[in-house]
Amino acid sequence: MLFNPYKLKNTTLRNRIVMAPMTRSMSPGGVPTQAVIDYYERRAKAEVGLIITEGIEVSHKASSAYPDVPRLDSEEARGAWKKVVSGIKKHDGAVVAQLWHCGGFRKLGMAPEPEIPGHTASGLVRPGKKVAHEMTIQDINETVQAFASDAKFCEEIGFDGVEIHGAHGYLIDNFFWHGTNVRKDMYGGSTEERSQLATEIVKAIRSEVSSNFIVGLRFSQWKQQDYEAKLASTPEELKKVLTLPTEAGLDYLHSSMRRFWDSEFSGSEENLAYWTKKLLGLPTISVGSVGLDSEFIDMSAPASPTNINKAIEDINNSKYDMVAVGRALISDPEWVIKMKEGRLEDVIPYTKEALFKLY
Ligand SMILES: Cc1cc2nc3c(=O)[nH]c(=O)nc-3n(C[C@H](O)[C@H](O)[C@H](O)COP(=O)(O)O)c2cc1C
Repeated sequence: MLFNPYKLKNTTLRNRIVMAPMTRSMSPGGVPTQAVIDYYERRAKAEVGLIITEGIEVSHKASSAYPDVPRLDSEEARGAWKKVVSGIKKHDGAVVAQLWHCGGFRKLGMAPEPEIPGHTASGLVRPGKKVAHEMTIQDINETVQAFASDAKFCEEIGFDGVEIHGAHGYLIDNFFWHGTNVRKDMYGGSTEERSQLATEIVKAIRSEVSSNFIVGLRFSQWKQQDYEAKLASTPEELKKVLTLPTEAGLDYLHSSMRRFWDSEFSGSEENLAYWTKKLLGLPTISVGSVGLDSEFIDMSAPASPTNINKAIEDINNSKYDMVAVGRALISDPEWVIKMKEGRLEDVIPYTKEALFKLY
């Protein structure tokens, strides 16, 4: 089933393999270059079922934290994204734009407006240390609006959908996580209140886009600043985190893990994607070291190709619906075809050198 077509909302994917969103930091001035356009087209041509773009900084003054990350807030950037989309569509590919707000990872002095600090729920980037800006209601409203209007641009440009980046400790996850959200208003307090920002973003996007447009949410237990952190330590808690955003109009959930074979909750061997699908009932993407023998914890560590029998078996058993592949698709654009044809020995191993070029 992994290599067979799959219908996600009204978009038919040619298989259930998804390219994971991966920041490449090669879009100077926020504009994807021809090399970026070719990079995505190469993977669509080589049969990736669904491409999720690298994180695109939403059009908000505080969304940026890293240089040369693509944006949508100029004619030039939108024109370049249009070319990315048409390159992918030329090969019958599907593509979703990942919308990203870096939250507390932004530091004073960073472009585009150096005096703007990192934005967070409560000024916290990790528990207990107030170093960033605590967002006002106006900041929150502007951010929600930025996600919605960027999603609208994405639909106009031709994307099949957007994925809201709610993972890895960035802005939305900063609100989800009790370790960094100690607000006392409607955006903090209970688990549901900590999900309020994500819920409002989904609602606002839905009100700007057509009903066919795909809206997904990526979330994670782990944070860049704490790999052991958890939003939920039981299935019941996980359901509470995700119910309101799901009901606001999501079409899929993307459960970000570093090792997809890890069990999530004690007493069960199943992973986070399994539980997500079971509890929320939406199409779900699993991810984390698929086809590689070393985990994502250290991006510069080399990793060798492995078989994907467990992912195939999990899909056959409907434990989750799609499988995202990250580093293996950075090093080898033809990974899907090679795996489909059982040519594991031809797969190019992942090394850190692959990070420095766009092929
Ligand atoms: C170079 C690189 C950049 C990444 N950038 C993003 C990103 O922009 N957004 C995101 O949600 N995850 C990002 N990730 C995480 C990946 O989407 C994926 O979850 C992770 O690499 C695990 O999958 P893998 O083991 O198949 O590589 C990035 C990972 C890598 C290696």
